[in-house]
Amino acid sequence: MMHRLLFLGPPGAGKGTQAQRLAEHHQLMHLSTGDLLRAEVRAGSDLGQQVEAVMARGELVSDALVLAIVGERLKTPASGWLLDGFPRNLAQAEALDALLDDLEQPLQRVLLMELDDDTLVSRLLNRGRTDDTEDVIRHRLHVYREQTAPLIQHYEARGLLTRVPSHGSVDEVAQAIQTGMGVVM
Ligand code: AP5
Repeated sequence: MMHRLLFLGPPGAGKGTQAQRLAEHHQLMHLSTGDLLRAEVRAGSDLGQQVEAVMARGELVSDALVLAIVGERLKTPASGWLLDGFPRNLAQAEALDALLDDLEQPLQRVLLMELDDDTLVSRLLNRGRTDDTEDVIRHRLHVYREQTAPLIQHYEARGLLTRVPSHGSVDEVAQAIQTGMGVVM
């Protein structure tokens, strides 16, 4: 089983759902930058206060803040990890490459979760998180296409990318991941 994985894909594709499931099954650390940032907002920390409005608008928070959060955790010993929602742009991806080189822990696979826009929007409207209004969802999709989608080529060129069709039930998507990667969930 590979144990250093990255989940890539647009908002609502199911990255968090599938990463959590895989992490529990294989005792891996699930590192979701969105969850970590929302925890800071809930705690009312300085960092949380800095990022709350940015997240509410569906913009990306600063690379430096996110890199500090992720870097600290990746340096702690773990049997493996799943990155979910990070990296989000080329600068973050390059910083991650450098960090993993230093740690001698290369990324083993990137799972690209692919889903049509109508299903993404309807899933997120159904969930109803504070940034799940129609306007903010559309803006997050735009930010994804502009800033995050270039990472597909970044990882495809390294032979790390596996595309996962992400329509269907949670179990069916888990099955597609299993088929794409040869893991048992
Ligand atoms: P983040 O929390 O990462 O949000 P996101 O990318 O918009 O992702 P979502 O959580 O919306 O989607 P997901 O693909 O994880 O789907 P999920 O499994 O939850 O980021 C939020 C904000 O934080 C950003 O806008 C930014 O401001 C900031 N941020 C985070 N990381 C950052 C970074 N690295 N740099 C800068 N800023 C950063 O599923 C969605 C819904 O669908 C759920 O209700 C779920 O139950 C349901 N669902 C899942 N799978 C299925 C299925 N197969 N069938 C039916 N329903 C399903």
